[in-house]
Amino acid sequence: MSTLITNIAELMTQDLEHRVLKDAAVVIEGERISWIGAAADAPAADHAVDAGGRAMLPGWVDSHSHLLFAGDRTAEFEARMAGEAYAAGGIAVTMEATRATSDFDLTRLAMGRVAEAVSQGTTYLETKTGYGLDVENEARSARIASTVADQVTYLGAHLVPAGQDPDEYTDLVCGPMLDAVRPYVQWADVFCEMGAFTAEQSRRVLLACRDAGLGLRVHGNQLGEGPGVQLAVELGAASVDHANYLAGQDVKALAASWSGWDAVSGAGRRGTVATCLPACDLSTRQPLAPARELLDAGVQVALASNCNPGTSYTSSMAYCVTTAVLQMRLSVHEAVRAATYGGALALHKDTGRDADGERAVGSIAVGHRADLHLLNAPSATHLAYRPGMPLTYAVWRAGARER
Ligand code: NIG
Repeated sequence: MSTLITNIAELMTQDLEHRVLKDAAVVIEGERISWIGAAADAPAADHAVDAGGRAMLPGWVDSHSHLLFAGDRTAEFEARMAGEAYAAGGIAVTMEATRATSDFDLTRLAMGRVAEAVSQGTTYLETKTGYGLDVENEARSARIASTVADQVTYLGAHLVPAGQDPDEYTDLVCGPMLDAVRPYVQWADVFCEMGAFTAEQSRRVLLACRDAGLGLRVHGNQLGEGPGVQLAVELGAASVDHANYLAGQDVKALAASWSGWDAVSGAGRRGTVATCLPACDLSTRQPLAPARELLDAGVQVALASNCNPGTSYTSSMAYCVTTAVLQMRLSVHEAVRAATYGGALALHKDTGRDADGERAVGSIAVGHRADLHLLNAPSATHLAYRPGMPLTYAVWRAGARER
């Protein structure tokens, strides 16, 4: 079954050549993109959809979310807006509520959050454990997450639960808890921050998880300068997320991590993506991550929602893109790229075509997964020009029309 989507005013491919096509068309066959080009040259297909002169982008790739949770932290948010500082301790409130929730309800809540994200144009999504924080509940979160998200990250090292010895808890994270989640997860993450895990504990967790075959990610430099970025780069993590407080040497290390990689062909040794989380920065009243400086230094940048109940209760990638343009000084093209291709890069899903059956996401190219986002606007510029407007008009995820 093939579908021709034609009369696309602006097709922002986010492919390796950064092409933006005018008066374009796309053909989907099954779950893959089989053709892109000028609408006038488009081949026939089983079905045709008239895009009506709207703009099309790749679906958003949200490479950082925490969707497995129950409970409410409105009061914490209100206190923050009244002047209190964010502290990692709020995670414990969500842990209690999550542990007390049935599998059925936790699944229902997570599925609802994924549906919200998809309805706003997100077509590929990572989510984390991290509100279970014991063997049984981390494994349960990982298992449920694996049924609702495209990729799952183990975040047993999110907070040391009250009353537990930090080193003994770290042993648990590196041992029995890791064994229990392993069947369900692709990545491991650690909250390497004052009030969470020290550099030494973080290193232990990351090395144990790497030995178990997991890819690595790090929550780092969110609340102050710290060791997160350097550790992430040293251990070859796919991303360091937050990255609000960066020293010059952090920016240099991130840029240098990409020196063996060919940005045009996508070949070579990958470095560490800096994943910026602007919705979180605003909600915690942290300085916005220096995405402009990172891009100018040659760092690969992703934008993600960080949807979670404590610091960023939104899955709106459009909001992140808007903020990145209006306040972080990215161009629209750069911001959209960070929220699509950048996320794919951070999840190692930027390459892969027909040959290996693993389809790339985050860019529009032949052989890639047909994850497409049609805006109710003639150009992507409207994402920043009309902030807060409901611009998602249609969404295809792996070739299936979702909206
Ligand atoms: O990414 N930084 C660590 N984790 C989350 C916060 C989770 C929470 O406060 O519940 C974050 O912001």
